[in-house]
Amino acid sequence: MNSPVLSIKKVSKSFPVGGGSTKIAVDRVSLTVPQGQFVTVIGSNGAGKSTLLNLVAGRYIPDTGTISLNGTDITNLSEHRRAAFIGRVFQDPLQGTAASMTIEENLSMAESRGLRRTLRRGVTKERRARFRELLAVLGLGLEDRLRSEVGLLSGGQRQSLSLLMATMTKPSLLLLDEHTAALDPKTAQQVVALTERIVREYGLTTLMVTHNLEQALRLGDRTIMMHEGKIVLDLSGQVRQTMTVADLLAEFTRVRGESLVDDRLLLA
Ligand SMILES: Nc1ncnc2c1ncn2[C@@H]1O[C@H](COP(=O)(O)OP(=O)(O)OP(=O)(O)O)[C@@H](O)[C@H]1O
Ligand SMILES: [Mg+2]
Repeated sequence: MNSPVLSIKKVSKSFPVGGGSTKIAVDRVSLTVPQGQFVTVIGSNGAGKSTLLNLVAGRYIPDTGTISLNGTDITNLSEHRRAAFIGRVFQDPLQGTAASMTIEENLSMAESRGLRRTLRRGVTKERRARFRELLAVLGLGLEDRLRSEVGLLSGGQRQSLSLLMATMTKPSLLLLDEHTAALDPKTAQQVVALTERIVREYGLTTLMVTHNLEQALRLGDRTIMMHEGKIVLDLSGQVRQTMTVADLLAEFTRVRGESLVDDRLLLA
């Protein structure tokens, strides 16, 4: 059998919070994601969603546990090296692109991600033709603005470009951390539709954090809920299909309630 694309085993990460104490952001999380699965990740503020994605991307190295990609242990691989296999789009439209560089320079850079410097090439004629094709798919007219500075684009245009840059090399894994949260509702909807299209077309294995519960259930194949650094709910198949937003909210309340009870027990 093929190895799963992503295999996280008992991964934990704590941060110092001053006074010599630590906060456990991710607490012995295990998660296996097979090829082509699209997982939506929900959970309240501070639940550990971004930290989990940051651990997978190599921004942070886990305190304990292992992370494997396509069967290879990448737990200690640098963020830079992982970038060759992992595409990311962040919440902030300013983060995924270089504002002072042109659209074609940004795309060139994205295409060379993870390659040795000597293998990187400039913007050639063939590359430019390919970029035009890719940009045309966005339907934003960016294919005629290859030499415009990215800083001149709107938030939605920048996020669409970020998505293109994160996926154009068909990465093993795509990580999306609330990548539409900073956009107005209509633009957010367009970027979500684009996300769906790109993920399906390339068959990308994807983890997408969202606060939109309706979206979490509608998009993709599986939904996980995090709470206090742990995965407390893992939905797929029939169960997920029949799940409503109201059911999810009830689950949120239930896990929060239970943790309160736990705290009380601990204090007793
Ligand atoms: N670099 C850091 N230094 C210190 N504490 C951190 C750091 N990153 C995250 N934390 C803490 O870890 C916990 C989990 O944070 P994380 O950002 O993963 O949550 P989240 O689920 O993404 O929340 P949100 O929905 O608000 O984005 C929080 O208590 C947060 O304050
Ligand atoms: Mg977050």
